[in-house]
Amino acid sequence: MTTPRLRTRLESLSEYIPAMPTLPTLERRLARATNLDDLRRLARRRAPRMIFDYVDGGAEEERSLKTSVTAFDRVEYHPRALQDVSEVSAATEIFGREVSLPLVLGPTGFTRMMHHEGEAAVAKAAQEAGVPYVLSTMGSTTAAGIAAAAPAGWNWFQLYVVRDRALNNERLELARAAGMDVLVLTVDTPVAGARLRDVRHGMTIPPSLRWGSALQAVRHPRWWSRFVMSEPLNFAAAGGASDDLAGIVRTLFDPNITFRDIEWVRDRWEGRLLIKGIQDTGDAKELAALGVDGIVVSNHGGRQLDRTPAPLELLPDIRTAVGDKTGVYLDGGVRSGSDLAAAVALGADASFVGRAYLYGLMAGGQKGVDRMLALFREDYVRTLQLLGLSSTAEIDSGVASIRKW
Ligand code: GLV
Repeated sequence: MTTPRLRTRLESLSEYIPAMPTLPTLERRLARATNLDDLRRLARRRAPRMIFDYVDGGAEEERSLKTSVTAFDRVEYHPRALQDVSEVSAATEIFGREVSLPLVLGPTGFTRMMHHEGEAAVAKAAQEAGVPYVLSTMGSTTAAGIAAAAPAGWNWFQLYVVRDRALNNERLELARAAGMDVLVLTVDTPVAGARLRDVRHGMTIPPSLRWGSALQAVRHPRWWSRFVMSEPLNFAAAGGASDDLAGIVRTLFDPNITFRDIEWVRDRWEGRLLIKGIQDTGDAKELAALGVDGIVVSNHGGRQLDRTPAPLELLPDIRTAVGDKTGVYLDGGVRSGSDLAAAVALGADASFVGRAYLYGLMAGGQKGVDRMLALFREDYVRTLQLLGLSSTAEIDSGVASIRKW
């Protein structure tokens, strides 16, 4: 029997007992992720190891990959106090159009391999968040599929020039017909980088169920059953054959792309044109002189040439070299909203991310990408407030510097 006094004490104690969770497990796990590392850990548990490693890994000894990320550890902010930061605008403009954050969800190949919801889920998340999404030439969803999934989103297209020039024309035509008005031409892949994790796993695209992968199927039955049951991953660009990435690139990509081809593309694309994969100020100047709309400073996520500097470190010089008339975008190593702010301070109009949203996607489909975007936004807004800034437009080069070592 409980006395009235004991009952009152028990009632007040109940205030301290956490309520029973009501969210389904996946949502609860995603909501508990406090940063991208948490989402990455979740992704690692949910996707087969071979798939996770394809996303997570880089070329050779992964030095370019590591350097690109750790460069952000040496960023130092210089905040101002006593500023009114009660209202903050995270928005910025790209080609005169407002986007809600200085962020672009960049092109990634074979995205339905990471999670069955694939590119459509990423495009929908981008649409809801008000940031652009770039469909890759090596995507596993068509341009029309993206337009149907995210009709109000700002969808861009990425092109690898393939040997079959008619196929390039056809791809540009399909992108245009799907309402895509910005083209990102990637120029750092004459051959594929040596992705040693993929070689060790015997990774092919699409993955085939062999010894190693059969073991993974036992550990990730949900991923494999969805993979087997969803529409086959036949990539128009890959000609349907299962091969390793190096083989696909060798067979399809044109290794003879030069500055002349920029004009060839320019003549066939009346929309905006960005050139992705630039790491040299001379190249950037030459492209700016050719009249491209922007340069994406990128080492392909450390997946191509190993031992390259961090794109973040190259950014200020490339910005100085091309001036303000040509757009400059950062790609590589961005893992948080604070990183986005640092990139703007060092000269970027916006940053591309690939792995960041793929961790979200592998962790929980579109909901995982939504969570990644929410984390980036919160972090970006708080960083601005702590810097004493109330808008992206107020970020200037005095806000951040990179410590040498
Ligand atoms: C494709 O572009 C890749 O980097 O895997």
